[in-house]
Amino acid sequence: MKVIACYSMKGGVGKTATAVNLAYWAAKSGLKTLLIDLDPQGASSFYFRIKPSSKKWAKRFFNAYENLVKHIKASDFENLDIIPAHLSFRNFDTLLAGFKKRKNRLKRVLKGFNKEYDLVILDCPPSISYLSESIFIASNLVLVPVIPTPLSERTFEQLMAFFEENDYPQNKIVPFFSMVQGQKSLHKATMEAMSARYKMFLNTTIPYSSDIEKMGVHKAPVDVFAKSQQANYAYIKLWKEVSETERKCG
Ligand SMILES: Nc1ncnc2c1ncn2[C@@H]1O[C@H](COP(=O)(O)OP(=O)(O)OP(=O)(O)O)[C@@H](O)[C@H]1O
Ligand SMILES: [Mg+2]
Repeated sequence: MKVIACYSMKGGVGKTATAVNLAYWAAKSGLKTLLIDLDPQGASSFYFRIKPSSKKWAKRFFNAYENLVKHIKASDFENLDIIPAHLSFRNFDTLLAGFKKRKNRLKRVLKGFNKEYDLVILDCPPSISYLSESIFIASNLVLVPVIPTPLSERTFEQLMAFFEENDYPQNKIVPFFSMVQGQKSLHKATMEAMSARYKMFLNTTIPYSSDIEKMGVHKAPVDVFAKSQQANYAYIKLWKEVSETERKCG
């Protein structure tokens, strides 16, 4: 089982849109996928109509695990389950702060899902906290949407520095450009500069698109209501590149 986090300490960069569409394409490719909405605002659960899961779960050792399992819901799509944002996640950080070895705790909890799922996708809240550190440890890849502006560049540098200072492997960080407006020269210049400096940027970029905004209206991944649009092709390409990258990283 692999774990992919959609993470940025910056708000409103496309983490949730990415988590929802990648979870959809992963499930469609045949992987048993669990999307965990770790943001108490609950955006990614909002995009899926969820219903009770019929899975039977073995009792496991951790309270936190049992607490998560009882919230698992099935989505309308085959192979895709969701743990909706639960208000108690708001306390997750405080909870982790109280544990010894707290940073490994999420990893241990997620290990409980090893048999049932091939892939866990984490939709993360925009912060840097105990929860984010446990996310960095638990994840095989930390997928970072970056809007190509100078301010995002600074935030990305801070994330790289944070990994270095704390000895987290920087090769887990997989950035890609999000909400790209190709006609803006500032976007173009920032993309050129950042991809020259940071070789790990994915080739796929996600355009700024009203079809992605409309996910909120349709409460569904883009493929459901805008199949032949550029935004949908961009997510298909992103999933392909992310899954290849994940395989390369082992
Ligand atoms: N590529 C895009 N083009 C246009 N609008 C987008 C795009 N990606 C996301 N949006 C819209 O921008 C807003 C923020 O996106 P999203 O919720 O995915 O960001 P986020 O990083 O998860 O935000 P938060 O930090 O608040 O969790 C949403 O209204 C979403 O519909
Ligand atoms: Mg979000």
